[in-house]
Amino acid sequence: MELQDKTFEDYQKTYQHSVDKPEEFWAGIAENFYWRRKWNNVLSWNFKEPAIKWFEGAKVNITENCLDRHIYNLGDKPAIIWEPNDPNEAYRVLSYKQLLGKVEQFANVLKNNGIHKGDRVCLYLPMVPELAIAVLACARIGAIHSVVFGGFSAQSIADRINDATCKLVITADGGFRGTKTIDLKNIVDDALVQCKSVERVIVLTRTRTPVAMLKGRDVWWEDEIKKVETQGNPAYPAEEMDAEDTLFILYTSGSTGKPKGVVHTTGGYMVYTGYTFSNAFQYQPGEVYFCTADIGWITGHSYIIYGPLSQGATSLMFEGVPSWPDSGRLWDIVAKHRVNIIYTAPTAIRSLMAAGDEYVEGKDLSSITKLGSVGEPLNEEAWHWFDEKIGKGKAPIVDTYWQTETGGFLISPIAGVTPTKPGYALLPLPGVQPILVDEQGAEITGNGVSGNLCIKFPWPGMLRTTWGDHERCRQTYFSTYENLYFTGDGCLRDESGYYRITGRVDDVLNVSGHRIGTAEVENAINMHSDVVESAVVGYPHPVKGQGIYAFVVSGEHHQIDTELARQDINKTVARIIGAIAKPDKIQFVSGLPKTRSGKIMRRILRKIAEGDTSNLGDTSTLLDPEVVNEIKAGALTGEKTS
Ligand code: WTA
Repeated sequence: MELQDKTFEDYQKTYQHSVDKPEEFWAGIAENFYWRRKWNNVLSWNFKEPAIKWFEGAKVNITENCLDRHIYNLGDKPAIIWEPNDPNEAYRVLSYKQLLGKVEQFANVLKNNGIHKGDRVCLYLPMVPELAIAVLACARIGAIHSVVFGGFSAQSIADRINDATCKLVITADGGFRGTKTIDLKNIVDDALVQCKSVERVIVLTRTRTPVAMLKGRDVWWEDEIKKVETQGNPAYPAEEMDAEDTLFILYTSGSTGKPKGVVHTTGGYMVYTGYTFSNAFQYQPGEVYFCTADIGWITGHSYIIYGPLSQGATSLMFEGVPSWPDSGRLWDIVAKHRVNIIYTAPTAIRSLMAAGDEYVEGKDLSSITKLGSVGEPLNEEAWHWFDEKIGKGKAPIVDTYWQTETGGFLISPIAGVTPTKPGYALLPLPGVQPILVDEQGAEITGNGVSGNLCIKFPWPGMLRTTWGDHERCRQTYFSTYENLYFTGDGCLRDESGYYRITGRVDDVLNVSGHRIGTAEVENAINMHSDVVESAVVGYPHPVKGQGIYAFVVSGEHHQIDTELARQDINKTVARIIGAIAKPDKIQFVSGLPKTRSGKIMRRILRKIAEGDTSNLGDTSTLLDPEVVNEIKAGALTGEKTS
């Protein structure tokens, strides 16, 4: 079966087939991949436990699909083009043959350092080719990778390492981001004070920042490579994996407690990312594809590494930031490497739009054929700017809606095949069965309606469990509504049946496309010695999508120096979670609006944070209604106050 639908009629036919005969449909799609042994059973599932198995009995290794099988036809074609942070530093190109060589070499390094199939490996690296190499080397030997985004703090790394009991950490001395250098190894050292399971740390040289290298624990990447070279660079045949063996863990925030380790398995994830990449972007051989995400997030896993490489694409990786040396950097990269497809985030589009059109004008963007967006709703203004200034009105925009848990796109236009509509993720991809429900779980049928977005049938890329805590997976995604996967998002289906995601309906924030749980931020704020309690809500932010607004009940320090007290709290949050979770606004209050049973009325705080205090609804059930007036009077307006 073809991976790409070529016309809208094709899409409609494929979609119908995928709903009528899902197993036949997915088996047909899976035929496009290389399996050591085919499956006995395409799918078995129930959403109660949940227990979901795709391609059971099949034997496969995802790196054979991403590398080995391309060598004959595409061996000398670029697999990865790497653009460094500093435009004056030389860029690098790794052909499929070279990438395979490096992955095998590093697989040997992993073996030499005692890593076996099933072991967990934590990766905390900058956006350099070695990150992709290390990810693929783990997959090659069957080790489970857990990539931690470079913006997380030592505490967050320690939590993730301990949750997965990682044996090995792979990091770098430091990483470059714009004018900043981030001391990755030092941060890892702080984390490892709390981590007993880690036996070895492999350190890549990037910034050559001074680092502590502990005898018996820490080794240099380059030295380990030399050892493999003196062994004669032996080939490393891919480990044979069961389709349902775990490929990786990726931690993500929810509405309660600590981040959970979303578990993706091998066969279904491979099929799903490869298929959705090929179809939604209508990838054509030879096209240069540039995803601006960081590999520390799911977008980087699925659509920088696995999806594009399984399709023999050329994937461009960028180490730096869109605003340095100036806000024209992405467009310089497009011109320099003749990029055809650019896949980015609304927050990046909005900030580049705000920087001014002078950074786009005069740039050669003639190579662009398709555009993509992910992470949060792409508002209409940004959609039009992207379309006109970057796509010159001739590049279809795919606004891809999906989640860490879904592995790949759920709802998205197909470039040039389905219509597009600003602000809309449009239509489900083949194999995806969305349904809107009301609070009680009753299906909302028809068009021109809104509800909570659920999926009623499994797709191969979905999460299987949360690491070490299956009950949490059931609770979070499969218990709100019976027999449905609940996304946590609200959604509108317009008169034409097109889907528009309206944002989270739970206590999860989306700040610059980063998912952050309000409870997580509150816990971090409450760690500050002077804080009694706090409540965190989101508010609309012109660039970030959502900003973080914290209401804090604190001791006396803030009365002496409010600004300093805010900075202290921000430092605390940066230590506990990472700089990405720092509140944009901190308002000190004498109490929080609570019901008589002690529940914080977030609805009221959300309204105040949004600057809409005209109608706060019923406040009569509050323990102390007076506190609301005080909070209203002290509300922080404007974009940023801390
Ligand atoms: C939001 C990122 C609107 C949504 C791949 C989802 C979107 C959360 C879109 C997942 C989109 C992602 N339109 N909202 N195109 N894409 N979201 O796990 O709220 O980091 O639940 O995965 O981002 O974020 P995550």
